[in-house]
Amino acid sequence: MKTRILILALAAALVYVTAMLVLQKTAEPKAADPSEAVYNNILTRTSVRKYQDKKIDDATIEKLLRAGMAAPTAGNRQPWHFVVCTDKEVLADLAAANPNAGMVARAPLAIAVCGDKDKTFDGEGAEMWVQDCSAATENILLAAHGLGLGAVWTGVYPVKDRVSKISKALELPETIVPLGVIAIGHPAEMPAVKQKFSEDNVSYDFYEE
Ligand SMILES: Cc1cc2nc3c(=O)[nH]c(=O)nc-3n(C[C@H](O)[C@H](O)[C@H](O)COP(=O)(O)O)c2cc1C
Repeated sequence: MKTRILILALAAALVYVTAMLVLQKTAEPKAADPSEAVYNNILTRTSVRKYQDKKIDDATIEKLLRAGMAAPTAGNRQPWHFVVCTDKEVLADLAAANPNAGMVARAPLAIAVCGDKDKTFDGEGAEMWVQDCSAATENILLAAHGLGLGAVWTGVYPVKDRVSKISKALELPETIVPLGVIAIGHPAEMPAVKQKFSEDNVSYDFYEE
C-alpha cells in the first residue's frame, strides 16, 4: 500500500514538474533580444533611392537628428551642423550638385551633414570632423532604416565642385563644409541587401594579404 502511494506521489510530482516546464516555456517573451535587433538593423540597412510621395513628420525628423548627434565624436567636439531640407527647389539644387544624386530631388527630405570648422581641433586633428560627421551620417541612415524609412548617403566632400555647389544652394558660410547629403523618404523600393562580408578583408594580429 505504502509503495503504491509513493509511486502515485512520484507520478503526480512528475506531471506537475512537466506541466510547469511547458507553461514556463510558452510564457517566455517572444520579443527578439534587443541586442540582436540592433545588430539586425545594421545588417539589413541598404541604400534606398526611390520614395513615396509622402511627407516625413517633424517628430520623425527630430528623431533622425537626435540619432545623428548621438554619434561618437573626437574629444566630444561635436563639429557638425545639419541642414534639414524639404523645399522642392532646395532639394533640386542639392540634386544638381552631384551627378549621382538625382534621387534627392524626388525625396521629401534631405539632411545635409556639414562639418563646423570652428568647432574642430586645431592642427593635425582638424580633419577629424570628417570622421565625426561620417559617424553621424551612418547613425541617421540606421535610424531611418529602424524607423521604416529608406535613405541613401550621397557624397559631397572632398569633391570641390560639389562642395561649392551645395554651399551655394544652402548659403553656407566658409566655416561650414558639407560632407554629404542624405536623401530620406518612405521607401518605394526594397533593394536586396548586398552581402559584403569577406574574410579577405580581415587579418589577425598582423597584416596578411
Ligand atoms: C561616402 C559615400 C558616398 C556615396 N555617394 C553616393 C552617391 O553620390 N549616390 C548614390 O546613389 N549613392 C552613394 N553612396 C551609397 C553607396 O553607393 C552605397 O552605400 C553602396 O553601393 C553600398 O550599398 P548599400 O548602402 O545598399 O549597402 C555613397 C556612400 C558613401 C559611404
